[in-house]
Amino acid sequence: MEQFLGLLLGYAFGSIPFGLLLAKAGGMGDIRSVGSGNIGATNVLRTGSKKLAAATLLLDLAKGLVPVLLAKAMFDQPETALGPVPLAALGAVLGHCFPIWLRFKGGKGVATNAGVSFGLTWPIGLAYALVWIAVAYLSRISSLAGMCAVIAAAIAAAALGYAAYVPALAIIAVLVLWLHRANIGRLVRGEEPKIGQGK
Ligand code: G3P
Repeated sequence: MEQFLGLLLGYAFGSIPFGLLLAKAGGMGDIRSVGSGNIGATNVLRTGSKKLAAATLLLDLAKGLVPVLLAKAMFDQPETALGPVPLAALGAVLGHCFPIWLRFKGGKGVATNAGVSFGLTWPIGLAYALVWIAVAYLSRISSLAGMCAVIAAAIAAAALGYAAYVPALAIIAVLVLWLHRANIGRLVRGEEPKIGQGK
């Protein structure tokens, strides 16, 4: 029961499509008809509004962080791979990527998984943030930075001894890579835009 509640808690937060709501509220129309069509901060930045993009990033991060912290506070359970805390983490990313409110067509999970990683434990969050920043600095490509960061979070969990978090973070990494398949194609062809540019 607590497992189900953890998953549901994560999904309830994760499925709030902040990028879509903020772009609409900011007068940018439907973000799904801009750039890559994604509802994440990278694509919101393509509207030209840094403020809306920053707000999307922060809120998408928060909707991963908050349910994981709530699950930690609510459920007094030994931390296992199938415990309510890693399931809340998984639920938040699933909610962002497959929101019921958008007929299950959502985002790619990078910012939400950053929040999830910090919520699970700060060293994993730090690994996530450092890898994202380093790759984004070197390549100026958001999708590449995001994919490297999600992989880094799963590896950091294993390397730092957080075995209970490894399965959820590994599943998330595979999911995020799959959702970036069009980006991977563009990266291979050398057509993936730099941060703040193009489609
Ligand atoms: O966080 C999403 C990012 O990794 C890719 O976004 O719009 O370039 O496909 P986009």
